[in-house]
Amino acid sequence: MSLAELKGKDFINLEDFTSKQILELVDLGIKLKKKTKNNKDLNLLKGKNLVMYFAKPSLRTRLSFEIGAKKLGANAVVIKQEEIILGARESIEDTARVISQYADAVTLRTFKHEDVELFAKYASIPVVNALTDLSHPCQIMADLMTIKETFGTFKGLKFSYVGDGNNVTNSLLKGAALVGADISVGCPNDYKPNENQIKIAQSIAEKTGSKIQIIDSPYEAVKNAHVIYGDVWTSMGQEAEYEQRKEIFKGYQINDGLCANADKNHIVLHCLPAHKSEEITGETFEKNAKHIFNQAQNRMYAQMAILATIMA
Ligand code: CP
Ligand code: NVA
Repeated sequence: MSLAELKGKDFINLEDFTSKQILELVDLGIKLKKKTKNNKDLNLLKGKNLVMYFAKPSLRTRLSFEIGAKKLGANAVVIKQEEIILGARESIEDTARVISQYADAVTLRTFKHEDVELFAKYASIPVVNALTDLSHPCQIMADLMTIKETFGTFKGLKFSYVGDGNNVTNSLLKGAALVGADISVGCPNDYKPNENQIKIAQSIAEKTGSKIQIIDSPYEAVKNAHVIYGDVWTSMGQEAEYEQRKEIFKGYQINDGLCANADKNHIVLHCLPAHKSEEITGETFEKNAKHIFNQAQNRMYAQMAILATIMA
């Protein structure tokens, strides 16, 4: 069983996992969701401790990790940037070694992706990427789970992403490639996903047979798509560019007109928080609210699958 090999491993980059492992983690999330809803005893992490560090705001990641860990029998402790000032009050190397003395796993939300990599190098416990400027792998595990629940398979599916080629896009590209789905990203030329992340996704896609397309037409991107995915135009840390970005991305709004080009059974997903009338209209959002809030719900189960696998 390939998941057993992941005990003690970090969850920082999706490309560190095989297609088989990602597919098994998605299925484990679905299984844990069923068990939780049937009030089954899930004491898989009894007596363990999870530490969560946030240098940026969070609603979903914080609550889904904390409550999910508790549902597995673990204790969870949150520390915020203002409490320890990661990398400033003391070095990241020392902080990693100190937290490793108390906890059994740690989640980190940072600006610089390199901070998470450096922390992991010095930590003796599994480290989970809870969003960096480069990637958001836990989000994508929940998204894949939502897509699998909705369509029953990844075979023959086309994902599309419209808007800013950001951390979520980088991870979505790799996630789609890992599960063998096609993906088309429609974004302005100067706001494409990270070049290296595209290369990584392409090299995975060569093995799994998925097709990756990065174009500037949102219409072409969503054409015949089964999934239309959106995220904010201004990510955390880019607030100073808000007005400028609103102007640049105004042709990249997810609305009913755009969605009319997709497959007739398409769903719209959004990682949230959403800025309605900007990247998505309120109308399109509400039509897809069932899927979007199931996606938010699945953050908890997808992360329970990750924690139960690497922390157990
Ligand atoms: N989608 C997501 O990661 O939400 P938070 O920023 O609220 O955690
Ligand atoms: N791209 C967004 C995702 C929020 C969950 C950000 O980094 O702010």
